[in-house]
Amino acid sequence: MAFQWKERYSLKIPEIDAQHKRLFEIGEHAYELASLNDDYDHFDEIRTIINELLEYTQYHFKYEEKFMSTFNYPDINDQITSHNFYVNKIKGITDSQIDDDQHKAVLDILDFLAEWISSHILISDRKYADYYFQHGNKA
Ligand SMILES: [Fe+2]
Ligand SMILES: [Fe+2]
Repeated sequence: MAFQWKERYSLKIPEIDAQHKRLFEIGEHAYELASLNDDYDHFDEIRTIINELLEYTQYHFKYEEKFMSTFNYPDINDQITSHNFYVNKIKGITDSQIDDDQHKAVLDILDFLAEWISSHILISDRKYADYYFQHGNKA
């Protein structure tokens, strides 16, 4: 399973954890739809869920960037750059990638997205959470 929430992803910031969990849920749903191996064409459903993934990801990143700015997180620009990179990856998913080969092209991209967001949470988001707990409460 590509998008699977693990307890070690928790940053102990409840709203952020809830948003990360929601991102994994949407990603997992997309993965399941793209994995279906039946006689139906799931193009519309996959397109819809990928649009949902894009919208929710943008919502989460904006929320996070605003949160980081409330305690003057010094590495906020690295976060913004990474977030933009990721959003563009999702935006780059073409109809033909969904259509041509539902069982390969789109699954490869979803695997990439799952790997990326997992390590982003474990490394980059963890850094701002640590900073927040050290400095943020005093702001
Ligand atoms: Fe995040
Ligand atoms: Fe982030």
